[in-house]
Amino acid sequence: MAQSPGSPVDIDALVDRIEADGAIDLGTVDFTAPDPHRVRVELGAALDYFARIEREVERNVLELQVVLPNADDRTRRFVRVWEEQELPHGWIFDRMQQEVGLPPATPELNHIGRTMKVAGVLSHVPGVHEALLFLYLSIGAMHERLTAVGYDKLRERLLQLGMPGFAATAVRPIRAQESLHYAYYRSAAVEQRDRLSRWQLELARLVRLRTYRPVGATTPQRQADFGATAVALVGSDDPEALARPVQRVAQDLLTLAGDGLRLPPFVAAALRETVELHRRREAVLV
Ligand SMILES: [Fe+2]
Ligand SMILES: [Fe+2]
Repeated sequence: MAQSPGSPVDIDALVDRIEADGAIDLGTVDFTAPDPHRVRVELGAALDYFARIEREVERNVLELQVVLPNADDRTRRFVRVWEEQELPHGWIFDRMQQEVGLPPATPELNHIGRTMKVAGVLSHVPGVHEALLFLYLSIGAMHERLTAVGYDKLRERLLQLGMPGFAATAVRPIRAQESLHYAYYRSAAVEQRDRLSRWQLELARLVRLRTYRPVGATTPQRQADFGATAVALVGSDDPEALARPVQRVAQDLLTLAGDGLRLPPFVAAALRETVELHRRREAVLV
């Protein structure tokens, strides 16, 4: 299958680097919040969402074991260091929530959905495991990109709220780790894509276009939560600024350069749906 443009990345070296970077120490984070009330009102939804998705990585690791029981050693090694870095991200946001008088997040850590279990059964069908590994890596790249863009927006909002300390000691190092995770997922997805036949890539693309949800938005309730977060981060009901970079990742990974195929704007559509669900829920609650 056609190679991607650009020089190949040494993925093992990337995992070495992530491993060497290690976890962020909560003791180095400045949790000063001069106006807790404003943080609660303007950023409460976003802090809770970030805390939850970061801590739910614990469940994502279990899901991976169900979906890809035959994952290779390097994937397993990455997943181990990835979890080690992501969980403290969640604890940092939980602690910040408590600093401003909000309860910690309630992540779903144990329930593995039916889709995951079905995928796990299908992974034994010849050829499906390879396509599923590609799907896993490409959705990982999309989620990491969305998270990183979300953190850029969060940083701007924190500066507006007079919280440069938290922006510098928490969001900046977290954002740097998300960039490395993105680099891993993207490079590993490109490498895996080169092993796929055309039908496997088409299967993966079809599944992704039909099932995409922003990271953590696994139920209508969680979709509405994401919508509230998007509105808090962007400052309007238009999530296009969050969707665009993620759509680019999908276009890059799910199509081949020579195909001339342009994916429909499915990321923006999924994000807009979350904002609609958030507004509808708000209207019911008022
Ligand atoms: Fe993270
Ligand atoms: Fe990450």
